[in-house]
Amino acid sequence: MSPMGTAGAGRLRLLCATRNPDKVGELREALRALPVALLSLDDLPPLPEVAETGDTLEENALLKARSAYRASGEASLADDTGLEVDALGGRPGVRSARYAGPGADYERNVTKLLREMEGIPPERRGARFRTVIAVLLPDGSEHLAHGSCVGRILDARRGSGGFGYDPVFWVPEVGRTFAEMGLAEKNRISHRGRAVRAARQVLVDYLAAHRGANPEN
Ligand code: IMP
Repeated sequence: MSPMGTAGAGRLRLLCATRNPDKVGELREALRALPVALLSLDDLPPLPEVAETGDTLEENALLKARSAYRASGEASLADDTGLEVDALGGRPGVRSARYAGPGADYERNVTKLLREMEGIPPERRGARFRTVIAVLLPDGSEHLAHGSCVGRILDARRGSGGFGYDPVFWVPEVGRTFAEMGLAEKNRISHRGRAVRAARQVLVDYLAAHRGANPEN
């Protein structure tokens, strides 16, 4: 490997520290035009599991990216997402995946959220999704990319697409829930779509600085 951590025809190797094929696919699409060879955890020998013990999305994203970087020696990227509901003081936030406790899954998490939000009037149902992506580059630098999307928690599920809290997250600028949008439409406005584009910019800047040229030319 060259000192820059590149492979093939000057491509930057970048490990996406997730086993979620939807996230890898989304990232691959966003980075398509860049000289980046995206690796997933499935491309490497098993790496240690990382306990998401951080108190913030930023800490958890960094924990996962640092662990992948240390174990693999590859530039690495990891994300963490949370749903922050105003009327619940920002919960479930960093605990969004485990909100309903042991055995939590998408269905139970949404059911718990609807129950906690019972009786709360529309004007107090504001919420936001937040995604943080940590990027660790071959020069040892660490970067955080952020994305958020503001919406409202409905009092019942609407739509059959998406995953997680999508059926109850209503986006005012579109007038539909994430579960009523196609993936491309969701990515244009979503927390993760925005964070991925910010992470892409980190890579564009790094590649430009290490080539003395715009990598998109
Ligand atoms: P993760 O950090 O991306 O795994 O997300 C934590 C939890 O937030 C997941 O278990 C989902 O329940 C929820 N979540 C993350 N992203 C989304 C989204 O785009 N829509 C709905 N729920 C999401």
